[in-house]
Amino acid sequence: MKKKNPDVFTLITGASAGIGRALAVEGAKRGWNLALIALPGEKLQEISESLEKTYHIKTKFFEIDLTDKKAPQLVHEWCQKMDIQVGRLINNAGVGMGDKFSSLPYEFYEKMMLLNMVSLVCLTRLFLPELGKYPTAFILNSGSLAGFYPSPYKTVYAASKSFVNMFSLALREELCQSGISVSVLCPGSVPTNDAVKKRIPKNGYLARAAVLSSERVARIALEKLEKGKAIIIPGFVNKLYYFLGYAFPFKLRAKFLSRLFRKYYISGNGN
Ligand SMILES: NC(=O)c1ccc[n+]([C@@H]2O[C@H](COP(=O)([O-])OP(=O)(O)OC[C@H]3O[C@@H](n4cnc5c(N)ncnc54)[C@H](OP(=O)(O)O)[C@@H]3O)[C@@H](O)[C@H]2O)c1
Repeated sequence: MKKKNPDVFTLITGASAGIGRALAVEGAKRGWNLALIALPGEKLQEISESLEKTYHIKTKFFEIDLTDKKAPQLVHEWCQKMDIQVGRLINNAGVGMGDKFSSLPYEFYEKMMLLNMVSLVCLTRLFLPELGKYPTAFILNSGSLAGFYPSPYKTVYAASKSFVNMFSLALREELCQSGISVSVLCPGSVPTNDAVKKRIPKNGYLARAAVLSSERVARIALEKLEKGKAIIIPGFVNKLYYFLGYAFPFKLRAKFLSRLFRKYYISGNGN
């Protein structure tokens, strides 16, 4: 018998900014208690206090670098120590890139893979037994529309998001009898941090046509999540790109994006 528990928490990584912060606000509007994770700084305390005051929910926060290999375990131990019962998991933290593969150092890619893939898988594995105890359990992973395209100049990022997209869909099927719903959020361009804002104009007219705010993306994400959607693609133009993609083999998709991005991402111009 699964427990109904009003004290259940939703754990959100990357909750101090951008889409993660907007997801926290949308969750708070629904009365969800929130456990917020981000890098050390001052933002999480401020956000937690503001959400508690505005929406009368419980919040906890933990500041940690998720690229540290021990971090997922430390997040899990923190939840146990603080008696935070995690019934919903939103793996949102992630970083992007836009540059020639050879222009960025090995260490950058290692950190990107640790954050975008390794920490997401480890947190999912660690929290899975607890999620299974609650009737409305879900896992929402932040993938990307880019994960459906082999993307020159976003090579490792797009590949890491492809991993997130495929991992989420496969896990969804494995867990379909368990009562834990798994969804993957696949936005197109969302002007969040300064690097993304600088990158969007460089991505060409097709990306610019698909821009949505993080608030809109979060609103759509939670609406679709509540309907149990597997792949959540916010916005009509992004959906169009998703379906159009299927008309072309991967090789052609890569060639097309290479033509589109090449002139914008010359060495020293990206990040
Ligand atoms: N923006 C887009 O166009 C777009 C499109 C498709 C998919 N996505 C995906 O959506 C997710 C959110 O993107 P965003 O643009 O909203 O990001 P963002 O504005 O840069 O926010 C990233 C969040 O992750 C946290 N974070 C970054 N590195 C971390 C680390 N090493 N350990 C712990 N937390 C860390 C940040 O914490 P601090 O604030 O403390 O730095 C922040 O809370 C990512 O997975 C991204 O790949 C974004």
